[in-house]
Amino acid sequence: MNAHAPSPRLADHAIDPIFLNRHSPRAFTEATLTEADLLALLEAARWAPSASNNQPWRFAYGLRGDAGFAKIADTLVPFNCAWAEKASALVVIASKSTVEKDGVANPNPWAAFDAGAAWMSLALQAHLKGLFAHAMGGFDKAKATDLLGVPADYTLHAVVAIGTQGAADTLPEGLRAREVHSPRHPLSEIAKHGSF
Ligand SMILES: Cc1cc2nc3c(=O)[nH]c(=O)nc-3n(C[C@H](O)[C@H](O)[C@H](O)COP(=O)(O)O)c2cc1C
Repeated sequence: MNAHAPSPRLADHAIDPIFLNRHSPRAFTEATLTEADLLALLEAARWAPSASNNQPWRFAYGLRGDAGFAKIADTLVPFNCAWAEKASALVVIASKSTVEKDGVANPNPWAAFDAGAAWMSLALQAHLKGLFAHAMGGFDKAKATDLLGVPADYTLHAVVAIGTQGAADTLPEGLRAREVHSPRHPLSEIAKHGSF
């Protein structure tokens, strides 16, 4: 799949092509990314909306070749590590699950929802920069907590691999056929007028 070719996905209604072209490849080149390049993606995430503007998202990142990258890669399940270790950066997405009010830490029930918005901002900004971001739930949370010093009131959500898309034939054989743009349920199935 050519990273710059238009997506074969078809929308039910007219939308900006970025929503169809953004996807989650597993084939990454082993390109490096500067810290400034990565911070520009996290900057986009920072401007996501959140309940009461609490901004619960938290990030820990590593750049290809550094100790942070190696630590995060070490938390990935083998299936993910097999391809994500070629990415240019790995970002752990967490959220702070409490919010302080009058000196008391109260649960923030919207923290995960807000962290999801931040991840999508990151993914779209990556796309605008000619990069791809691939989220992974397949990582060892206990290991990540230990290796990355995750505070007790943080919830870990995903590790995101970011990089330049490579050729599908650089992937282990079992993954090559999965390097396609995935479909979606019809809008009429997931959006109902007036009730669920
Ligand atoms: C929270 C989350 C967890 C995911 N976990 C994994 C994973 O562990 N391994 C993987 O290869 N892909 C993972 N994915 C990628 C999804 O499979 C992918 O986003 C989905 O199939 C839709 O494809 P698209 O992003 O290319 O549109 C994950 C995506 C999200 C948002």
